[in-house]
Amino acid sequence: MSFDRSIKIAPSILAADFANFGAEIRAVEAAGADWIHVDVMDNHFVPNLTFGPAMCAAIRPHIKTVMDVHLMISPVDASVEAYAKAGADVITAHAEAGPHLHRTLQLIRAFKVKAGVALNPGTPLSAIAHVLDLVDLVCVMTVNPGFGGQKFIESQIAKVRDLRAMIAERPIHIEIDGGVDPVTAPLVAAAGADVLVAGSAVFKGGSVAAPAAYGTNIASIRAAAEQATGRMV
Ligand code: DX5
Ligand code: ZN
Repeated sequence: MSFDRSIKIAPSILAADFANFGAEIRAVEAAGADWIHVDVMDNHFVPNLTFGPAMCAAIRPHIKTVMDVHLMISPVDASVEAYAKAGADVITAHAEAGPHLHRTLQLIRAFKVKAGVALNPGTPLSAIAHVLDLVDLVCVMTVNPGFGGQKFIESQIAKVRDLRAMIAERPIHIEIDGGVDPVTAPLVAAAGADVLVAGSAVFKGGSVAAPAAYGTNIASIRAAAEQATGRMV
């Protein structure tokens, strides 16, 4: 996994057919996905439940790109090893998930996995100011975590801009998660984001049997974002 600031589209399988993850992943990768975003929810840190490490291990062979695991769980430390062993390339934990963020990030990196930290909309950037040396990715939540298909929270654009300045030359990805579509993607891309997670906006109108919409959807989000950053293709 080499580092760059090009726009990367990361479809969230939260919006895929849960009975058909392998085929859905292959379809969105064929349609141009750069990363695959995997939302793990525990019905405790967030009010929804998805799947755990066994499912992550089962889908890993279907992912040819980057397996980006977003842990919406608390406590998190005791589970890091299981997701690392499941084959995650990136493991992102929430800053709000426990009192020991620094330890959590150290633990993720100890398994030779890229370490991400996610911030809920109400959490200030100061929560990560003193751990940036342990971080490979910051995920700015642009919805309250727990569900797909929610409305993008505009107040987070200023947070992305401030985060981009805070990161300066460090090789840290800025990921946006929640309500990303061709209208909101340019707003966060212009503010400095490079990884755009999108669930509903990628999977809408398509299926494994009719995957053409996946390609159109990914291309529209990418084109809108690249235009905003001046990186036209
Ligand atoms: C929300 C998840 C997101 C979600 C985004 O808790 O972390 O990854 O799937 O879904 P959309 O793109 O539909 O807002
Ligand atoms: Zn997510």
